[in-house]
Amino acid sequence: MQITVNGIPREVDASPDTPLLWVLRDTLGLTGTKYGCGVAQCGACTVHIDGEAVRSCQVAVGDLAGNVTTIEGLGTPESLHAVQAAWVAHQVAQCGYCQSGQIMQAAALLATTPDPSDDEIDAAMSGNLCRCGTYPRIRAAVKAAAQSMQET
Ligand code: FES
Ligand code: FES
Repeated sequence: MQITVNGIPREVDASPDTPLLWVLRDTLGLTGTKYGCGVAQCGACTVHIDGEAVRSCQVAVGDLAGNVTTIEGLGTPESLHAVQAAWVAHQVAQCGYCQSGQIMQAAALLATTPDPSDDEIDAAMSGNLCRCGTYPRIRAAVKAAAQSMQET
C-alpha cells in the first residue's frame, strides 16, 4: 500500500492491521517516534495525521486516511519548527524518550490554539507522560513557542 509520510509517498509492504508506529519505525526507519505502552496511554508514539495529533500505536496502517508527519518531518536542522526551537532553548529533554511525542502534541496544539492558557496547555499535554518529570519545562517551552509563532 502507499502512504505519505513527511510529504513523501512511500510504498510499504505490511499487513493492513499493522500499527502505523511499527511501519514508521521498522519499515521506514523513522525511529524518532517512540514505543512506550502500545495502548494509547503514554503519548510517546504521537505523530500528526493531516495536522492532528494521533497515537500511532492505535492506527492500523490499512485504516490510514491522511498524510503523516513525524518528528523527522516537523522541521529541518536548518529550520527548526518553533516548538523544536523552544524545546532546545528551554533544554526540555532529560532522557529524551518521551520528547518527540511531546513536541508533536505541542505543535498540533499551537496549530489550532495559537495562544493557549495554562489550562489549555495542561489539557492538551495531559496524555503525554514523562517519567523524568519535565512538565514545568514543557509548559514553559510551549508558551515560548506560542510567543515566537505570534511574532513571525
Ligand atoms: S505507545 Fe502509543 S500511546 Fe504509548
Ligand atoms: S524526558 Fe525522560 S521520559 Fe520524558
